[in-house]
Amino acid sequence: MRNIRNCTVAVVGGAGFLGSHLVDHLIEDRGCKVLVVDNLISGRREFVHKDAIFEHHDITTSEGHLKGLFKLYDVKHVFSYAAHPYIPLSFERPKYVAETNFIGAINVINAAQEAGCEAILQVSSAEIYGDGNGVTWESPSTKAKGGYSSGEEHDAVEVPVALAEDAPVRPHSTYGAAKAAVDYYVQCGWRERKTPCIALRQFNCVGPRETHPYIVPEIISQIAKQDGDYPPNSVVVRLGNNSFRDFLYAGDQAKIAVELLERGKFGEVYNLGSETGTKIYDLAKLIGKLMGFADVRVEQDPKRVRPWEIWHLQSDNTKLEAALWIDGKEQKEKGKDCLVHPLTTLEEALKRTIAYYRENNNQWCWEK
Ligand SMILES: NC(=O)c1ccc[n+]([C@@H]2O[C@H](COP(=O)([O-])OP(=O)(O)OC[C@H]3O[C@@H](n4cnc5c(N)ncnc54)[C@H](O)[C@@H]3O)[C@@H](O)[C@H]2O)c1
Repeated sequence: MRNIRNCTVAVVGGAGFLGSHLVDHLIEDRGCKVLVVDNLISGRREFVHKDAIFEHHDITTSEGHLKGLFKLYDVKHVFSYAAHPYIPLSFERPKYVAETNFIGAINVINAAQEAGCEAILQVSSAEIYGDGNGVTWESPSTKAKGGYSSGEEHDAVEVPVALAEDAPVRPHSTYGAAKAAVDYYVQCGWRERKTPCIALRQFNCVGPRETHPYIVPEIISQIAKQDGDYPPNSVVVRLGNNSFRDFLYAGDQAKIAVELLERGKFGEVYNLGSETGTKIYDLAKLIGKLMGFADVRVEQDPKRVRPWEIWHLQSDNTKLEAALWIDGKEQKEKGKDCLVHPLTTLEEALKRTIAYYRENNNQWCWEK
């Protein structure tokens, strides 16, 4: 087991949403010295912990410069979080997204190995699964059609299946394709040249310091902007498809990512999510309730309906749990410390996100 305590760690993309939570955890709970490398394209300097070292650098440019930084600060472990994570951008600017999410990630991995770093964690995404080859929803009609691939309404008997790592990799976007390519690079890198890297296939996250107009910030903004416009206690939220998503609290993501870098196997991919989740319309109702509205009506906005949809994304963490012993009972039996157990509930994660938004005068960072 690698021990990530009181050592120097680099977080590439550490000014972003998930990266900044990771930096906080490494400094405050693990006693690490942290080097943040970021070009601040979506991250913010003010998100970076005051005790972290900050180096402005674009990972698509010089691999040699990155290697130099890792050597200069004597970095032992690297977390590779820098990416363009907002999927719609990959529809509009696929090459730009692929350059950062694929070439940039490879630069980070190569630079870390060349600098002699002991372990690298590359953050991947559940988006690599696409529709999971139709296995995430089963119905006679979809089976006959070979799975969902359009945005049409479906009358399926819903039998959601959580995704394990052996589910087919069938990305729907350039974002997912670039992430999948890096996953393969991690796997091949270990076989070919013993690159000490692990890929973490992350499902959706939620928490303070969101950096893009994902579904949770979108719902919060819509509701906040209606204060006073509608009858008391009543709001309308206009959304796209009512798909199912698995949400993990960003602070839990950070802790588990560190545990995985300590205990995971190089060259392997691991899923991480809450293993639960919600349909998006129910999410809107929950957020509305937490924001003080008893009556939350959801309407479908045709402009928000995607031309295709991934109807159900839910993680099966079995492989990760086997590596980390997350389960409390198993912990006791094995005599090891309990890791992140239990996880922060979705309700609590949403409360913290709403509080953060309100503390920031009802603005997200991209709106400033
Ligand atoms: N947020 C989620 O729900 C989620 C889910 C699955 C996977 N992920 C993955 O987790 C990682 C972090 O996502 P996030 O939500 O924190 O996004 P984010 O945009 O907040 O963070 C990405 C960081 O990388 C930086 N960056 C982007 N391009 C760069 C470049 N060329 N050079 C240097 N820095 C660059 C940005 O400035 C930002 O600080 C990404 O790899 C993303 O694909 C996120």
